[in-house]
Amino acid sequence: FPIYAQQGYENPREATGRIVCANCHLAKKPVDIEVPQSVLPNTVFEAVVKIPYDMQIKQVLANGKKGSLNVGAVLILPEGFELAPSDRIPPEMKEKIGNLFFQPYSNDKKNILVIGPVPGKKYSEMVFPILSPDPATNKEAHFLKYPIYVGGNRGRGQIYPDGSKSNNTVYNASITGKVSKIFRKEKGGYEITIDDISDGHKVVDILPAGPELIISEGELVKVDQPLTNNPNVGGFGQGDAEVVLQDPLRIQGLLLFFGSVILAQIFLVLKKKQFEKVQLAEMNF
Ligand code: HEM
Repeated sequence: FPIYAQQGYENPREATGRIVCANCHLAKKPVDIEVPQSVLPNTVFEAVVKIPYDMQIKQVLANGKKGSLNVGAVLILPEGFELAPSDRIPPEMKEKIGNLFFQPYSNDKKNILVIGPVPGKKYSEMVFPILSPDPATNKEAHFLKYPIYVGGNRGRGQIYPDGSKSNNTVYNASITGKVSKIFRKEKGGYEITIDDISDGHKVVDILPAGPELIISEGELVKVDQPLTNNPNVGGFGQGDAEVVLQDPLRIQGLLLFFGSVILAQIFLVLKKKQFEKVQLAEMNF
């Protein structure tokens, strides 16, 4: 969950560029982000984040049963950019956003937004409303090209913040030996007894409900050999995009320049016509 990232990491983007969700959501799956090529200062625009997956697919839930996937995302905006206040979001954009409730990552990181978990069936594509800063009032903001980073996830993680494994991952043999007993627990899950052949001591590996067994009694296993399949069908991905904070004066200046070039061209042609008339008048036949 994004809250695990908020509690565990002051900054969700590590120095290497890796986004921290990947520490617990171990599988890699694609995400996509779309933003305008450029935006004007103090303007509301949309960032569209896509977290695609096969909607037919079900995942293992915490109780071992199967259920649908949820999605969540973190959007890392440049300093000064922030969530657009509700009264500045146009109605048609509000419709696209739906019931999503975005939150700043922390009090001093208002430029980082998190969302989720929300149902993936409805929000595999989500629209973030964003307000650009105004360099006229915000001295930190400049008319520059800025990067935007996104991390998006579908499905449950493999590791809890305390370091323990979730039931949405593969379980391995803790020693090399012979599987002497497989006990199926009433509420799901297994207790696998492995006998160490060399010295005869026994180890019981406890597996939660969820992952499916791929070994059987009497089988020889090596240490770290998988005892179960990997039930995880979800995954995390990250991406980035670029947006230019555009100075309207520059656009106006550019248009003015284009206008002056056109005028200059027209006057040059007129001058040529006038000169041709003089040439004609001066000609003697
Ligand atoms: C569950 C997103 C960071 C561990 C989820 C779910 C989402 C999500 C959407 C629900 C999936 C579902 O129900 O189908 C994210 C995002 C993160 C993030 C966007 C980064 C901003 C983390 C971190 C950890 C973690 C840092 C570990 C410390 C888990 C676990 C679950 C989970 C264990 C399953 C919980 C359960 O159902 O028992 N996450 N997560 N996540 N996440 Fe994350």
